[in-house]
Amino acid sequence: MSKESGKAFDTGLFKRLLAHTKPYKVTFYSVALFAILLSAFAVLSPYFLQQIVDEAIKKSDAEKLLFLVLAMLGVLLAQVICQLLFNYYANWLGESVIKDVRIKLFEHMLDFRMKYFDNSSLGVLVTRAVADMQRIGEIFSQGFFVIVADLLKMIAAAALMLYMNWKLALIVFALLPVILYATRLFQQAMKVAFIEVRAQVSNLNSFVQERLTGMKIVQLFTREKIESDKFREINEKHKKAWLKTVWYNSIFFPIAEIVSSVAIGLVVWYGGLQNVTNISDNVAGTIFAYILCIEILFRPLRQIADKFNTLQMGMVAANRVFSILDTESNIDDLGTVEKTSVNGDIKFSDVRFGYLKDEEVLHGVSFDAKAGETIAIVGATGAGKSTIINLLNRFYEINSGHILIDGIDSKDYKLASLRSHIAVVLQDVFLFADTIANNISLKDESISIEAIEQAAKQIGVHEFIASLPEGYQYNVKERGSMLSSGQRQLIAFLRAYVSNPSILILDEATSSVDTYSERLIQRATEKITEGRTSIIIAHRLATIKKADKILVMDAGKIVESGTHYELLKKGGYYNNLYEAQFMEEEVA
Ligand SMILES: Nc1ncnc2c1ncn2[C@@H]1O[C@H](COP(=O)(O)OP(=O)(O)OP(=O)(O)O)[C@@H](O)[C@H]1O
Ligand SMILES: [Mg+2]
Repeated sequence: MSKESGKAFDTGLFKRLLAHTKPYKVTFYSVALFAILLSAFAVLSPYFLQQIVDEAIKKSDAEKLLFLVLAMLGVLLAQVICQLLFNYYANWLGESVIKDVRIKLFEHMLDFRMKYFDNSSLGVLVTRAVADMQRIGEIFSQGFFVIVADLLKMIAAAALMLYMNWKLALIVFALLPVILYATRLFQQAMKVAFIEVRAQVSNLNSFVQERLTGMKIVQLFTREKIESDKFREINEKHKKAWLKTVWYNSIFFPIAEIVSSVAIGLVVWYGGLQNVTNISDNVAGTIFAYILCIEILFRPLRQIADKFNTLQMGMVAANRVFSILDTESNIDDLGTVEKTSVNGDIKFSDVRFGYLKDEEVLHGVSFDAKAGETIAIVGATGAGKSTIINLLNRFYEINSGHILIDGIDSKDYKLASLRSHIAVVLQDVFLFADTIANNISLKDESISIEAIEQAAKQIGVHEFIASLPEGYQYNVKERGSMLSSGQRQLIAFLRAYVSNPSILILDEATSSVDTYSERLIQRATEKITEGRTSIIIAHRLATIKKADKILVMDAGKIVESGTHYELLKKGGYYNNLYEAQFMEEEVA
């Protein structure tokens, strides 16, 4: 992970962020214009007030009074409208930037290699795509523009004060260092407090998420008390962190209030004195105007600490998101071969591969499967069977050797073309929180519901699906939790079957299923392997017996290969494996 920007403000990062507002140039400049208008309107009110007192009331000019009051009303109205537009469009800009960056991030992630996901925490990636995006949006909606608008207002107010009476202005300015210093202290304290709050919020999130996902384990092992105690503890920390921010606010705001009251008091006293001693007889209006100006000058200072924190948090989030966007972890898709169909000849020659740099998992695997054959791979757990599938699909790059499909190196195919010819039923079936029909077609519109039903009938799972509450429209909920693991596997079979691939790969689930499902799965397997090259990582005897060739794997190598009977005759590794399983079957 890249460094969390330690600087108060990272210009390079900010420029990069600003680049994302380019498509919304008009809005961007409009918001800037509203900010300028706002500051102008803000100081017009005090100015008119001064005029009303000094030029209209004192001089008993009713006509001028009416005119000035109406003018002031007009300015207020314009200010309100301006504020509304400013708020709306600043937020609009923020949301538009979020939308763009989020889509970009997601599209970037879609192309990542599996290796990236192996090494990343899902929770962190989700945070980047959701919560961090919100922070980035706040830079625009609550941070940057608001700070600029406030600064402009303050400058305008200061200028007006100097213009009206420079001596009074200097008195007020003399108090600024006090409030600036207090603001600085407050901001630093709040920053630390907020980091703690966020850390606790993320602790809460991951705790709740993990316990809810693992609720079965929690209840099975009666860990309710322990978990609830732990939760209490995290909550306590969260509360403490929050209260700290409340405490700082409680101290800071009265201080800011006192300083601005003192400023007003000094102005009234000194200004009044000037009037009384006749140094100037035109101070009354100015004093009124000053009371408004002091508000304009001091109020933003009170909130600026908050705004700076928003800005800073946004920048930290932007930094994290950009570091993912900068991660080059895409699969090289440099191949050019695109075929509308392949025969399905597969050849592995001396393939070596490891997930980690110095840890080879496959130590030179060679085998071939002719078009239409069914190859079974058997072997101990962790032998490297599923790894072979990952490589055929190019989820990972091999270290050395070749994988050929129809005599062409798999790297020479366009990735999308390669994968379109291979259908895979993975060991752990993943289903989306959607209907069965959508889980089968994966929203491919060329696959009609009739085609799905037809296919289901062919492989003999139609009855099972039709028996579900809403048949093909049954929503299986998150990860298919409404189905048993055998049922999920059948859905995955159908998903592979409707895509009508030339090459079919099946990683049989190790978990045992009931005899009825077992028979269904067996029948479906036979049907979908018909007429195409199939590689089956097999655990079921029936599957193995019928294979054209069986590869026996052990510790990343193929140790034996041949048909069921050849291997039995050999009396080696396979024979032992078979006998062990056969005994189990007998017992069962
Ligand atoms: N994503 C991964 N990152 C790092 N190592 C991995 C990864 N996936 C698998 N391995 C390792 O590679 C080896 C082979 O795993 P593989 O999944 O191919 O085994 P398998 O033969 O399919 O086992 P099983 O019968 O239990 O499914 C194992 O030692 C495993 O620890
Ligand atoms: Mg496996």
